[in-house]
Amino acid sequence: MNPLKHVAIIMDGNGRWGLRYKNSRNAGHKAGLSTVEKIIKETIKNKIKFLTLYAFSTENWRRPKTEINYLFKLLENFLKDKIEDLNKQNIRLKIIGIKSFYPKLNKLLDISEKKTFKNNKLQINLALNYGSKSELVNACKVLVKNKDKINESNLTKYLQTEGIPDPDLLIRTGNTKRLSNFLLWQLAYSEIFFEKKLWPDFNEKDYNKVIKNFKKIKRNFGKI
Ligand code: IPE
Ligand code: IPE
Ligand code: MG
Repeated sequence: MNPLKHVAIIMDGNGRWGLRYKNSRNAGHKAGLSTVEKIIKETIKNKIKFLTLYAFSTENWRRPKTEINYLFKLLENFLKDKIEDLNKQNIRLKIIGIKSFYPKLNKLLDISEKKTFKNNKLQINLALNYGSKSELVNACKVLVKNKDKINESNLTKYLQTEGIPDPDLLIRTGNTKRLSNFLLWQLAYSEIFFEKKLWPDFNEKDYNKVIKNFKKIKRNFGKI
């Protein structure tokens, strides 16, 4: 049975779900938020310590302004409503990505991170304005500036995931098989599951099925 410390998820398919059932992409984003809550609960039940959720990529700025605004408003309201509750559940929230949004959201993200900093039941890494290529370029810049020796462990130190074990398992919902600039370095040896279901339809049962199958995989890491 493989140990499972860290699950990363590309939560894809909200827009298509919204268009299909509610004639609105944004309705799909709203529905996707309920899946986030279900999956957080189930992650705790499974005693998994790290959950990384891809919520907004550096490329997602190419979407229409109305959709981008809706997404951030949704996040803002979610944090306002739930951060106390997450804190009570001993959950830590960490943002990975570049935190440069509108002032109110920046502040809320800072407050949420600070408030939950010491919690240790589950760490949720929310990938927001995150792009793996820019993360790697920034890490290289710091390496050079600090005149550090260029090697794997020094580069890892300057990634936003510093101190977090690499994901054991990556799940992408939404019937698309690509990484979309997510954790390119950190996923080097992760087990990858592509799920056909759109994110708002993904549920606890689907999640547990993936976890069960993950646990049975023979992970080699180059060995035999
Ligand atoms: C993923 O769902 C969520 C975000 C990128 C914010 P999408 O919005 O990409 O949904 P589809 O892929 O268009 O259906
Ligand atoms: C990846 O989904 C980003 C998030 C889930 C936040 P996208 O829907 O943006 O990916 P592409 O553009 O289809 O590859
Ligand atoms: Mg998509």
